[in-house]
Amino acid sequence: MQSGQVAYRALEGRRILLGVTGSIAAYKAAALCRLLKTAGAEVRVVMTPLAKQFITPLTMATLSKNPILVEFFDPENGAWNSHVSLGEWADCYVIAPATANTLAKMRTGVADNLLLTTYLSARCPVAVAPAMDLDMYAHPATQENLRELTARGVKIVEPGEGELASGLTGKGRMAEPEEIAASLNALFAARTDSPLRGRRFVVTAGATIEAIDPVRFISNHSTGKMGYAIAGELARRGAEVVLVSGRTSLPTPAGVERRDVLSADEMFHATVEAFADADGAVMCAAVADYTPAEVATTKIKKNDGELTLALRRTRDIAAHLGTQKGRRVLVGFALETDHEADNAEAKLTKKNFDFVVLNSLRDPGAGFGGDTNKVTFIDRRGREELPLLSKTEVAARIAGRIESLLTKN
Ligand code: C5P
Repeated sequence: MQSGQVAYRALEGRRILLGVTGSIAAYKAAALCRLLKTAGAEVRVVMTPLAKQFITPLTMATLSKNPILVEFFDPENGAWNSHVSLGEWADCYVIAPATANTLAKMRTGVADNLLLTTYLSARCPVAVAPAMDLDMYAHPATQENLRELTARGVKIVEPGEGELASGLTGKGRMAEPEEIAASLNALFAARTDSPLRGRRFVVTAGATIEAIDPVRFISNHSTGKMGYAIAGELARRGAEVVLVSGRTSLPTPAGVERRDVLSADEMFHATVEAFADADGAVMCAAVADYTPAEVATTKIKKNDGELTLALRRTRDIAAHLGTQKGRRVLVGFALETDHEADNAEAKLTKKNFDFVVLNSLRDPGAGFGGDTNKVTFIDRRGREELPLLSKTEVAARIAGRIESLLTKN
């Protein structure tokens, strides 16, 4: 047995689609392809037209033992190279090297080559290994693109520091093939070994919309990023995830079944229904506590005086699930502005949560809209305060806690 097979055991039998873009680091894609093949993976390669100038399709075809795909149509016989079936075929799509240009197009959804159309239709986990000059890598445009892609669940295999093709030294050098293979291996290993594998989880996310009349509504600032990151992370670890989503502009994370709702009432019904055959739920949505007692059927006209709206309480979805919970896992969130920890602790009992994720609006970098969060986990045994982390990392920590609860239950 070759050492690669031991080191990358989780890659065996996996179908890996390798995307190669036009960077000088494309030569390392050959070594990566070899490593993946040696580990027992099936590899297909899609290249951008420019990538062919850095490494020949013949090299990649020989190593992957599959024809290389570059064009939408085969120039020889006119056969269509279907990006949809490629995306469906793959268990994982890794783009290595990924140029600044390709990362920008991935972020904005430009689909002017087969590698990109495949990215847009892929439902499997996607990883990228950026490769570029240090200034291009450090540029706010590239950093923003990487942040956005991370928020969507794309795994970034960070470039290393070292001598670059330009002769400059800095960060931008594509990660070594061994490191990329190890990242992919970890991605599959998490799925194979996780106690979340095959478990059903409900995640609520985003803001609810409470109609006042046909034009206006009451809502809040939640963007849904944290809940979407959690849904994506649970799915990556092999769970079947139903994401009950209020209003957000986020794309659905790979492998997640999304059910869109508007009001707290709709969210209540969708969540209770999904929880019936679930192993647990993560309550991340910012649900309105009050909704207009009556919704006007026509637009409310303004006049000179004040307007008073009568509001009624909505039902507490989390508390309701808490009464039905049994041995299932129930995780809640708390967003507090004062007496944070005490208020959050009270929710443990009131809603029967296994643990509460507290974020305080006081902490810089935490809360609405951003890509980072600073949270404290609170359970019946105590508190664990985490440093400022990306929302994806917070999602990973939450998934980790859920895994240990599942192991104990
Ligand atoms: O009581 P509070 O709104 O602070 O509790 C927050 C937790 O309860 C969050 O996990 C939130 O998603 C959940 N919640 C809910 N239904 C409501 C209100 C809050 O599921 N109507």
